[in-house]
Amino acid sequence: MYVLDAEFVKSFIRMADDGWNQGWHERNGGNLSYRMKVEEVDSVKENFSKNKWQPIGVKVSGLAGEFFLVTGSGKYFRNVAIKPEDSICIIELDSEGVNYRIVWGLVNGGRPTSELPTHLMNHEIKKKATGGKHRVIYHAHTTNIIALTFVLPLEDKVFTRELWEMATECPVVFPQGVGVVPWMVPGGKDIAVATAELMKKYDLAIWAHHGTFASGEDFDLTFGLMHTVEKSAEILVKMLSMRPDKLQTITPDNFRDLAKDFRVTLPEEFLYEKDIWGGK
Ligand code: 13P
Ligand code: ZN
Repeated sequence: MYVLDAEFVKSFIRMADDGWNQGWHERNGGNLSYRMKVEEVDSVKENFSKNKWQPIGVKVSGLAGEFFLVTGSGKYFRNVAIKPEDSICIIELDSEGVNYRIVWGLVNGGRPTSELPTHLMNHEIKKKATGGKHRVIYHAHTTNIIALTFVLPLEDKVFTRELWEMATECPVVFPQGVGVVPWMVPGGKDIAVATAELMKKYDLAIWAHHGTFASGEDFDLTFGLMHTVEKSAEILVKMLSMRPDKLQTITPDNFRDLAKDFRVTLPEEFLYEKDIWGGK
């Protein structure tokens, strides 16, 4: 089968286009990767050609021999749907998880996203933590979340609680909460290690003054997760623009009631009484 006819490729392209339409991908901002299933690799491997092995920059032995569909570095999400062969690629990892090679795509040259170390380290953590269920890692330049990283303390417990409070179903969508990485140089090993550490606990990691990473089982769930947390941030930005405090909100006991009815576990560490950082 030709690569672009495969369902997983169509879903990848649609998700990139959805992200573009949300306004999260100015210029080449953001990147997306998908850990392919064995049968998906088999269905398209007739199109593969073998290029030179290149170092990943980190070791991901838990992903040795796997194939990933990934956006290209410097490529625009805006162009993924109209010229996919130029914008995305399939890569194969070697038997030690230290090198990759491009087997399809990026027909005009280039390399996978500069955030490949973070994507692959997150995939490795999530593959292990979910028994192989999580397959999608998504990085978007989410406008409102970025704005909040200038005014909220850069603490997991503050971001989690504030984002939960902005929409009743948020704690159901991301019950484990949200992690926050302080400002770091993107594209390298250090930020990959810091993000992967948070991904052991959360499905969402915010990069201060930069954007957000989300992990999920499939394209719908991962896009939905990013969409939900960014919408919650938008409500918080609107609320803070009206006045600095809240007249009323969802209380810790409200969250406990919600958790019972929706059968989710909400860690008590996020249900603290609020004079911790000021404000309601
Ligand atoms: P790439 O174009 O290399 O994917 O980089 C975009 C980006 O968002 C870096 O964080
Ligand atoms: Zn980025």
